[in-house]
Amino acid sequence: MRAKIIITDNYQLMSEAAARLVIEQIKKKPNAVLGLATGATPIGLYENLVKAAWLKTVSLSQTKAFLLDEYVGLNKADSRSFHYFIKNKLFDRVDIKKENTFIPDGQAQDLKKECASYESLIKRHGGIDLLILGIGLNGHLAFDEPGSEIDSKTRVVKLKEQTRRANAAYFKKPSQVPRQGITIGLGTIMKARKIILLAAGENKAGVIRRALKGKITKSVPASILQTHKNLTVVLDQAAAGELMAGGKRRK
Ligand code: GLP
Repeated sequence: MRAKIIITDNYQLMSEAAARLVIEQIKKKPNAVLGLATGATPIGLYENLVKAAWLKTVSLSQTKAFLLDEYVGLNKADSRSFHYFIKNKLFDRVDIKKENTFIPDGQAQDLKKECASYESLIKRHGGIDLLILGIGLNGHLAFDEPGSEIDSKTRVVKLKEQTRRANAAYFKKPSQVPRQGITIGLGTIMKARKIILLAAGENKAGVIRRALKGKITKSVPASILQTHKNLTVVLDQAAAGELMAGGKRRK
């Protein structure tokens, strides 16, 4: 595997290391196109970006950003929507221009059309320069659940029960977790010029091992990343826990 693996001591250092890579990219190409994940994992990275923008270490004034996914059916203003998440964690707190931020509309009248136009919008902006990914416990990336096709594009998907359970903490009742999502595809992901995969915590150790050292298989969507030409994986010790068994730790 050609991935570069960075193992840090804890979540905070993982977030700082990932933020450094994003800042480096924006400095090199101020109008870079970013792809951004939601979830608990990248929150620390976004906090570091907010801090850097505030300190004027970096400016996102020319940067473009595409969110990877969204729940179907949730209103943008709903605090559990990914729209709300990314505005609240990043977009509203840095100098990125609103017209340079893109989020799939989970309430679009015609969802199929929304997916097709999101995919072509990414293309029209020249594709994603730097994609930030988290990983689900079943190996999903964005909302590309097990079984997703390697060349899949932006589309509506049915969420697996495990994914709905993992996201239930954000809802009053587990039954409120939407059953569908809009997600960019594995094909869209693999076209990104550079990918950063983040994972923290012991509960991600198994899936990180399966994704990075296991067989490349549809049942672990993240395993396709093994074939990406420019992948950097940033982990904390706990998430890297099962990578080391029988193998050498790489810095
Ligand atoms: C959600 C998101 C993914 C994210 C995953 C893991 O399903 N759609 O983009 O990577 O959850 O989230 P967390 O970082 O909270 O573990």
